[in-house]
Amino acid sequence: MRPRVLPDYETMSTAAADVVASKLREKPHAVFMIPTGTTPLGMYRGLAARHEREGLSFARATFFNLDEYLGLPPDHPASYHVYMQENFYGRVDVDPERVHVPDGSAPDPEAECEQYERAIRVSGGVDLCVLGIGRNGHIGFNEPGAPFDSRTRVVRLAETTRRVNATDFEGERAPERAISVGMRTISDSRKVLLLASGANKARAVAAAVGGEVSEEVPASALRRHPNVSFLLDRDAASALGDSASEGEPP
Ligand code: F6R
Repeated sequence: MRPRVLPDYETMSTAAADVVASKLREKPHAVFMIPTGTTPLGMYRGLAARHEREGLSFARATFFNLDEYLGLPPDHPASYHVYMQENFYGRVDVDPERVHVPDGSAPDPEAECEQYERAIRVSGGVDLCVLGIGRNGHIGFNEPGAPFDSRTRVVRLAETTRRVNATDFEGERAPERAISVGMRTISDSRKVLLLASGANKARAVAAAVGGEVSEEVPASALRRHPNVSFLLDRDAASALGDSASEGEPP
């Protein structure tokens, strides 16, 4: 697996939107698993623009989000429900019946996780899973140590993740726990696309691409995946040495 390196965030985001759009054209009823956070914002902007300009339609596709904070109702301003509505689902023609975000306020979180995992299975499985990466190598909210065979479950967030994500909580640390799809759930996807931007991701990217495959670096698990692409901007690739290729398509 040779990561593809693009000059900057905007180019990386356009390339990511291209991958999603071409999957949709090839299979309009495709199943996507998608992230929140800062990294995919440019990709979502690009997809919304294609919907507006070119009529790219998401109406037959199915979407599963990777995670949600535990304890947050769907209308909480820092919830991933609100994020997704503002940045993507509310800006394109998705069918609300085909959009899934874990319910962080479910009275029985374990049952919610089982139901989520079941819904993914019933949908026929994920065609394209788009991921960001945490500074500690997490994917979804699978923090270092997450078992490679894990499924959707309640997880405890790393202290560093809670601090980094504090910006969404007016300076308070993010909640202690979240619902996250599992490592195995991600690995079962037919194709995986990981996006990383910025120098603060360089170490995690280098560990994932060039270090040992280990549960201590969750993103390293992707190296065992038969169809994975890493799309990086130059800063995120800055600790990689020669193992990356400039510009080749994923
Ligand atoms: C969020 C998610 C996380 C983020 C990661 C990077 O749904 O799955 O793994 O992708 O924390 O976040 P940003 O993009 O904000 O740096």
